[in-house]
Amino acid sequence: SRRTRNITHFMQERLSTRVLDILRDMGRVAESLGYGAYVVGGFVRDLFLYRPNEDIDIVIEGDGIAFAKAYALEFGTRIHTHKAFGTAVVIYPDGFKIDVATARLEYYRSPAALPDVEMSSIKLDLFRRDFTINTLAIQLIPDKFGRLLDFFSAQKDIKDKAIRVLHNLSFVEDPTRVFRALRFEQRFGFTIGKLTAALIDNAVKMDFFKRLSGRRVFTEIRLILEEDNPVPAIVRMGDFDLLKVIHPTIVINKALIALLEEVRGVIAWHDLLFVETPCMRWTVYLMGLIHANDMATCHEICRRLELATRYEALFCQERAAADHCLQQMEHRLPASAGALYHRLHPFRAELILYMMAATRVKAVKKAISKYYTELRKIEPLIGGNELIALGLTPGPLFRQILDAILDAKLNGALATREDEIQFARRWAADAAATASQNTDDKQMS
Ligand code: CTP
Repeated sequence: SRRTRNITHFMQERLSTRVLDILRDMGRVAESLGYGAYVVGGFVRDLFLYRPNEDIDIVIEGDGIAFAKAYALEFGTRIHTHKAFGTAVVIYPDGFKIDVATARLEYYRSPAALPDVEMSSIKLDLFRRDFTINTLAIQLIPDKFGRLLDFFSAQKDIKDKAIRVLHNLSFVEDPTRVFRALRFEQRFGFTIGKLTAALIDNAVKMDFFKRLSGRRVFTEIRLILEEDNPVPAIVRMGDFDLLKVIHPTIVINKALIALLEEVRGVIAWHDLLFVETPCMRWTVYLMGLIHANDMATCHEICRRLELATRYEALFCQERAAADHCLQQMEHRLPASAGALYHRLHPFRAELILYMMAATRVKAVKKAISKYYTELRKIEPLIGGNELIALGLTPGPLFRQILDAILDAKLNGALATREDEIQFARRWAADAAATASQNTDDKQMS
């Protein structure tokens, strides 16, 4: 039947041999202990969506921790265990990790909307999850390896491209699922089902989110802002009147969408050019979202989301300074590369990207991009030691010489170390000549 379709072939096509071997090994270890073992959730969902996913979640019918210990003993991995939750993380020598959980029968008593029927512990475990698309499980024990369990018509909803909860109390049990619904909907190009959308409307109307800590709300918002393209999910938050969890003043309009699209463009530009140094994308989007708010409101938002003080400084004082700098630059562009450098040097990458996105003046955007790509990393190749080697005495003169070298370099001069040493020597000689000239002048008068 459809419920027990075997998808071993499909797995062999889609998964690396390493992952397949691990899944088979885990099935064998579980069986030797008399347990059931399944790979579940997002990993299986993404298998059906042809999306690479190496976040493997294993559910054990039995004792998950005992299973992890037995597996670690045989395969020489490390494990971390959380006794209270019956969970473990298996950690391979190269850092690869697999999560192991225990399907416990006690769940039977707790969930609110549980119908009065008997369920296997794996089915109960899956029933407690957020959306139908996340409820697929694949059996791992040798005799049944590759059998797909689909208790809640996940395959149908994947085919229909629908995000649906399993029962009406899903958002009561866990309001963060509302944010997850929007995130999954936009990530996969799915649509939230009618009943599920009505339940979200209800959750918003009843403000289920007031039960959540600011931290948990922030975690979900950050996950949305870290998606490949968060803009459609932000727009959906607007549709559902959910942006008020950040602040009631934030509303979706054409201008805000345009700004967020600019942020997206600038981040794409940045990530392409600077693969090695990714920026904190979520901060740039959040700066865009709160762009129109005054300082007091920004502080209020940061406190509401329980942000760390370093983020509060970024979103409030530093962003205000960036806005101010942008205004000045839009009024008049810095006259030289040196002036541009000194203007923008105080700002961290995320603020630079924010400024590039926020300005409506093409020439300003271009200047900022020139700073970021060409000037930002410029610094003297020589330092105090080379100046000492020239026979100079450490003191305020050193700072002056090094600043002069920097300015010359910003304006395109001094290609090599040798050039800089020459420059320093000449600069020191000129300074000495001026000084002695001044002394002579004094003696003459
Ligand atoms: N889950 C849930 N309710 C939540 C969070 C998670 O029911 N509030 C369940 C989901 O069914 C999910 C599983 O726990 O499949 C693991 O969640 P997560 O680690 O977020 O994994 P993914 O669903 O793969 O999400 P992502 O791709 O964003 O990591």
